[in-house]
Amino acid sequence: MTVQIDHALEEIRRFRPSPEFAAQAVADEHLYEAARADRLGFWADQARELLRWEKPFTRTLDWSNPPFAKWFDDGELNVAVNCLDRHVEAGLGDRVALHWEGEPGDRRDITYAELTDEVKRAANVLTELGIGEQDRVAIYLPMIPEAVVAMLACARIGAIHSVVFGGFSADSLASRIDDAEASLVITADGGYRKGKVFPLKPVVDEALAKTDGGTVRNVLVVRRGENEIDWNAERDLWWHETVANASNEHVAKGFDAEHPLFILYTSGTTGKPKGILHTTGGYLTQVAFTHKAVFDLHPERDVYWCTADVGWITGHSYVVYGPLANAATQVLYEGTPDTPHPGRWWEIVERYKVSILYTAPTAIRSFMKMGRQIPHSFNLRSLRLLGSVGEPINPEAWIWYRHVIGGGSIPVVDTWWQTETGAIMISALPGITDLKPGSAQVPVPGVSIDILADDGDPVDGENGGLLVVTEPWPSMLRGIWGDPERFKETYWEKFGTAPDKSMYFAGDGARRDEDGDIWLLGRVDDVMNVSGHRLSTAEIESSLVAHPWTAEAAVVGAADETTGQAVVAFVILKQSQEEAVSTLEDVSEVLRKHVATQIGAIARPRQVFVVNELPKTRSGKIMRRLLRDLAEGREVGDTTTLADTSIMQVISSQVR
Ligand code: PRX
Repeated sequence: MTVQIDHALEEIRRFRPSPEFAAQAVADEHLYEAARADRLGFWADQARELLRWEKPFTRTLDWSNPPFAKWFDDGELNVAVNCLDRHVEAGLGDRVALHWEGEPGDRRDITYAELTDEVKRAANVLTELGIGEQDRVAIYLPMIPEAVVAMLACARIGAIHSVVFGGFSADSLASRIDDAEASLVITADGGYRKGKVFPLKPVVDEALAKTDGGTVRNVLVVRRGENEIDWNAERDLWWHETVANASNEHVAKGFDAEHPLFILYTSGTTGKPKGILHTTGGYLTQVAFTHKAVFDLHPERDVYWCTADVGWITGHSYVVYGPLANAATQVLYEGTPDTPHPGRWWEIVERYKVSILYTAPTAIRSFMKMGRQIPHSFNLRSLRLLGSVGEPINPEAWIWYRHVIGGGSIPVVDTWWQTETGAIMISALPGITDLKPGSAQVPVPGVSIDILADDGDPVDGENGGLLVVTEPWPSMLRGIWGDPERFKETYWEKFGTAPDKSMYFAGDGARRDEDGDIWLLGRVDDVMNVSGHRLSTAEIESSLVAHPWTAEAAVVGAADETTGQAVVAFVILKQSQEEAVSTLEDVSEVLRKHVATQIGAIARPRQVFVVNELPKTRSGKIMRRLLRDLAEGREVGDTTTLADTSIMQVISSQVR
């Protein structure tokens, strides 16, 4: 209900693009017209205009075996050449590609020529280490330039990278290395976070001790934290001893447009993370197009900053591939927003004269809490466009972002997309769209979105329903690594297997208002969104029951003012263990820590409640909806389908 009221109030707020902004905007109405008139032709034009092809394609889309799409598949290109060499050849070698800033305050400006050089050296090292086309390379690095170099070096030689976020635990890293059967891990001794060095190489050592396959032959280590590490002389190599001494001559070859580029693991509704597979030609086309059109990129004068870590899809598409394909100058920052002082981000905006900032609502909300005086003690007048991603942005945060950070008159674009979609799918286009706070607004040109009821029929009017993508798009996932069946079932068979019912099911609820603008309503499955990061209830539940004290566990995502959602767990202890357990507070602490160690700190529950029972239906299914009511402090909803309808009273009294 609150959602509805909120929307009714917000609908009166619209912001027209200013005439000055519109006059210089990259995107204009023609894009929509062209895409409406000939969708595939539109994408083919983008692919030809935005990228360099070693061999031009003649076929745009092969959809003869859905849901396995092939885009531009008789063409050949090299992703690294598109992001680097061609810019240097066009005379842009001296343009800064990365203004890098480490958390302790060390800085490096890296030009396109220097970045190209470094990627060529790294590519030579990878080849010397026996990494060939299609081999998998796990990358477990902090936000340092070498992360970008490592990804592009893989792309250059046709190897497949699997970047694992540096906050993940040894277990999580091990399962990802195993699933992809990686031959090489690229890591650092450590990285800086909140003023301290966090170890990475020791986590890799621990992960490799666990992986049974033993597919990893080498570990390439960047020196960053200068922390003590163990060394396995047969397996480990220093980056500064190999890459720095390698030749900077490297001739890149073109690969098929459907050659795999990367695997990125993300949470689904089951306990096992899915390795989302992306390929080259279509992916690069859509990330380059959206990066340019949605962020109104003028590469010759803009300084762009996306605050995401390269360990997430946003870092892949809008730190590495989109901006570099478009020859942008960007900021890369290693650390946390509040180290060593709460104005760190704004100091960076001022120092580099950032003009485009792309971040997540959770960050905006935590800045809101700290107050406007912090950003206002810096000069933010260089900003001319703001973006948001990762979760719905509430209208108040949107308005604060525009006014306090943006000075009140610059566009804010809210971009909806997913690891699976590879690139932005729904967003306003600045300079064209009248902006509406809280709504992600309209599909980008060339993307077809609909909202359907559970049975696959169209929803009535402005009713909420399920968000679907009705036509294949260039940057769509090509599968789940090693699991084509799961790919089909999870995403394409929600409404049945008949050809006219096969559509991409995103897992998000949405509604369309009377103007046709789309409002995202959150996940409809057991996936949580904590600070814009995806977590699965099942994954955390299985971690909790792996602890010797726990008999059963249920996890819900409860609304949280800052992080959007927070993990709240309900556990039943094993009777045999109850004596071993001292106080319930201790249990809660121990289990919170256990989850953080098993999965990573982002998965640590905000609360763990010890209860005697969990609410179950007669068929034994846990009713998480009721637990969510409890966790959010609401009146508990309809309990009539519970096997024992009085159980919620018992649980409520235990939780209080
Ligand atoms: O629920 C949606 C939410 O984040 C999910 C995708 O998460 P992930 O694959 O980790 O990618 C995040 C960054 C692209 C979606 O299913 N989401 C993402 N952006 C938005 C959003 N929800 C509402 N509004 C958004 N702008």
